Amino acid sequence: MASQTASTDGLATTTTIEHYANLANSGAGLVIVEYSYVMPSGKSEPNQLGAHDDKCIPGLQQIARAIHEKGAKAGFQLTHCGGKSQLDVCPDLEAPSGITVPAYDRVLPKPQAMTLDDMYAWRDAFVQGAIRAEKAGFDFVELHCAHGYGLNQVLSPVTNKRTDFYGGNLQDRARLMIEIVQTVKKETKLNIMVRVPGQDLYPDGLSQTDMAEVCRLLVEAGVGIIDVSSGIGGWNRPKDRRGEGYLVSESAYLKKANLGVPIIGVGGIETHGYIEQALQNQWFDLAAVGRAVLQGPQQFQQRVMKEPLPA
Ligand SMILES: Cc1cc2nc3c(=O)[nH]c(=O)nc-3n(C[C@H](O)[C@H](O)[C@H](O)COP(=O)(O)O)c2cc1C
Repeated sequence: MASQTASTDGLATTTTIEHYANLANSGAGLVIVEYSYVMPSGKSEPNQLGAHDDKCIPGLQQIARAIHEKGAKAGFQLTHCGGKSQLDVCPDLEAPSGITVPAYDRVLPKPQAMTLDDMYAWRDAFVQGAIRAEKAGFDFVELHCAHGYGLNQVLSPVTNKRTDFYGGNLQDRARLMIEIVQTVKKETKLNIMVRVPGQDLYPDGLSQTDMAEVCRLLVEAGVGIIDVSSGIGGWNRPKDRRGEGYLVSESAYLKKANLGVPIIGVGGIETHGYIEQALQNQWFDLAAVGRAVLQGPQQFQQRVMKEPLPA
């Protein structure tokens, strides 16, 4: 989760490092560091963490070490915001087809349409970001392909109307992600996760069936864990979804697709009882917990471990 604690040039500060040391007190098996921009045109918040330059590596190293010291694995999320930013943060706003990205909570500016060279530049920047994460000592990188950010924009028919080989049918819209995964696989020894939308939850957007197909291609390319969230529009709870596990029907759908890799579910999860029930029902293999941990990592561990299991 974005902590907005980095310096304005994307370097981790003491506050960022302490923040992750604190989150690792939750007892989580894996702590995934917030969305971090892979190149300056991919930045979406003034104090966002970066992975765009080698000068980011020493700070990232301290974050990875702080997480490892608490016994958890360390993951690092790589992001390009595409058209999902503001012009004062990102004057060179660019998106696959120059289409304004729909968002539930704000009106975004119109981005420029990307050239083929811009697409290649994204691919290279994601790979370089992964190489930096590996040098910093992370165990996993996670490509952020959800929540309406850049790779979601490339994948979604709502925002990708390109006529070259990065647009058109589902396989072509997935091509950039696949190429990134294949190259990261070749260039590093990292485990690769992807955060994907279970569906776009937006008219004419990606469907659950589309996403099962995309995930199959991603696994073939070398992805080892699929982390299932929401799509175009953002991460916030959709109005018609309620209660603990409000997005878990999305992970449950992909779990049924038998992709052969662990599936992560998310959405308002906060109790041991719910997690056990979801595991038993095969709704996911791993639970992602955001805000319930953020509110108090140590309290989360104490509360969840003490809770009685469902009968
Ligand atoms: C403050 C905040 C920052 C977030 N930043 C990110 C992020 O950097 N990357 C991401 O994939 N999701 C991000 N999210 C979404 C969460 O990862 C998670 O999917 C969402 O909060 C639902 O889970 P929860 O109900 O357990 O909090 C953020 C959520 C919050 C509350």
